[in-house]
Amino acid sequence: MSQDAGVAAVPSWTVVVASEAETRRLARLLGTLVRPGTVVALTGSLGAGKTTFVRGFVEGLGIDPAAVSSPTFALIHEYAGETPVYHFDAYRLDDPREFADLGPEEYFDSPGVCLVEWGDRVRDYLPPDHLEVQLAPDGDDPSARRIAWVARGGRAQALVEELRALWEGQAGACG
Ligand SMILES: Nc1ncnc2c1ncn2[C@@H]1O[C@H](COP(=O)(O)OP(=O)(O)OP(=O)(O)O)[C@@H](O)[C@H]1O
Ligand SMILES: [Mg+2]
Repeated sequence: MSQDAGVAAVPSWTVVVASEAETRRLARLLGTLVRPGTVVALTGSLGAGKTTFVRGFVEGLGIDPAAVSSPTFALIHEYAGETPVYHFDAYRLDDPREFADLGPEEYFDSPGVCLVEWGDRVRDYLPPDHLEVQLAPDGDDPSARRIAWVARGGRAQALVEELRALWEGQAGACG
């Protein structure tokens, strides 16, 4: 984890959502804000909601969420759109170097955006400026999730701030 040296993994923002629909709405909002070149690492245990998040996210980019499958056997899925989305899943890798062998820089440097499930497993191979979204259960409610946003870099930080302002503004507007 050499890349982490000196980088505080303190979340810039933590939010609790009450339902799957809310996770999707938040992810969709993020999808409307991202710019080409954005890389989002998704972390959290099995069933935490990483793929659910990807479905909401692609919707924000005008892509049909039904296109998103759990990339259990494929390491990468591509969803075509004005801004293409590259969806990676590092779960089945025996070794993180297999991720590096995919040549991920080609995707990171493309005009698309990248989402990496189990991104913490391949953190050393992600660009230094990326956004990590940590999903975890919250209390006893099976529908609740605590979502922590760790900005690893200035661009990611700006993105979280923009998202938070919009999300909290919407929450206020909804009463
Ligand atoms: N607030 C919530 N946000 C996201 N998913 C939720 C929420 N509440 C319940 N769920 C349920 O949790 C499950 C999340 O599954 P999902 O495939 O998104 O998880 P995952 O993190 O991608 O798992 P895996 O590690 O197996 O890829 C779904 O069945 C979904 O309906
Ligand atoms: Mg998944």
